[in-house]
Amino acid sequence: MTFSSDIKGEELESVKSQLDAEYEAIKNKKLSLDMSRGKPAAEQLDLSNGILTLPIHNYINCEGIDVRNYGILDGIKECKHLFSQLLNIKESNIIIGGNSSLNIIYDSIARYYIFGKLGSTPWCRLDKVKFLCPVPGYDRHFAICEEFGIDMINIPMKADGPDMDMIEELVKNDASIKGIFCVPLYSNPTGTCYSDQVVERLAGMETAAEDFTIFWDNAYGIHHIYEEEKLANIFDVCAKYGTEDRVLYFFSTSKMTFPGSGVAFIASGDKAIAEIRKRFSIQTIGYNKINQMRTYCFFKTPEGVREHMKALGKLLREKFDIVLDKLNSEFGNSDLLTWDHPKGGYFISVYTLPGCAKETVRLAKECGLILTDAGSAYPYHNDPEDRNIRIAPSYPTNEDLKKAMEVFCICVKLAAVNKIAKEN
Ligand SMILES: Cc1ncc(COP(=O)(O)O)c(C=O)c1O
Repeated sequence: MTFSSDIKGEELESVKSQLDAEYEAIKNKKLSLDMSRGKPAAEQLDLSNGILTLPIHNYINCEGIDVRNYGILDGIKECKHLFSQLLNIKESNIIIGGNSSLNIIYDSIARYYIFGKLGSTPWCRLDKVKFLCPVPGYDRHFAICEEFGIDMINIPMKADGPDMDMIEELVKNDASIKGIFCVPLYSNPTGTCYSDQVVERLAGMETAAEDFTIFWDNAYGIHHIYEEEKLANIFDVCAKYGTEDRVLYFFSTSKMTFPGSGVAFIASGDKAIAEIRKRFSIQTIGYNKINQMRTYCFFKTPEGVREHMKALGKLLREKFDIVLDKLNSEFGNSDLLTWDHPKGGYFISVYTLPGCAKETVRLAKECGLILTDAGSAYPYHNDPEDRNIRIAPSYPTNEDLKKAMEVFCICVKLAAVNKIAKEN
């Protein structure tokens, strides 16, 4: 059944009672479904089992270092070389860390908070520190800001990246704005790809804060599902303006191999990365080189990585197709729900009628479908219009995903029809 927000009178009554009945029937099925977090399914994880089973032929690396022992602070050369080739970043500007890019992001903020960046005042000594947050965005970025008492400013996400007019105006005039979070390719959760113009403006814009930092979290940088989108190389663009140190670039193999058991890195300009390397040397003698070696032996070359990502993308495409086909058939001719059309990444972002997202999520939960909390993709969990819901299709089986989407669509309609009935 399809209808739009202008439904009224008897038709409204009849649609409402039909949806009430459908909802009760689903509730009685006592389902247990989950579309809440972007975790890979077991069949995706299976594609990386070679990491556990392939022998490391030689634990003495190409530089003569025994990876089983202490030594090498910033990552084995094999791994650095692989990431350098894959993402076109100078090897000397990469530091390989531990198992989680989010952890390096947190530490990076903590470092500037405690010690400052390249001689600037530590953020903990300032009255106010603000960050720009393109929305909808990644909830865990916002959680870090909350933890450090950093004020967050919503920046609307447009089709080609965040609203650059707004960003330029803000950073030019306010020295307390110290950073911005960017997930530049297949953004979490909108799937947005930053255009060349957006990257250029971020690299070249005038900032009142000398320590303004772009947190370039390229978590989905090679996670293509449909046709491949191209992202400009931020370091190449920054080189034109001499702003390479403005960027902290993060990446990890979490969504390539095993989440939480992969390899993460940070990269930046010459000065900023030298400072970070110095601070890393106080934090640790070195990260897990055995895991770095295993990751390298599994992939070997950038082509090896790309082949692997193709196989992963194929599995994810089946799931994305299930979600997108269902949304199209249920809401293609209606204004009750709109959605983004990601070409890669892990998420599909949908937008209900204003004021209906929380209610949709609540209704879904009542009948056994867990969705990411409405509002999660906004700072302070506050979606001003209460419209956005993040769908994470990767984890359920295809069968469960179909069931989950059936439930989801009924809940979207029921929340909408209840709102329309109330307002009529
Ligand atoms: C945008 C983004 N950054 C970082 C992460 C976490 O990555 P890691 O496992 O490397 O900490 C995620 C995971 O969902 C993510 O979506």
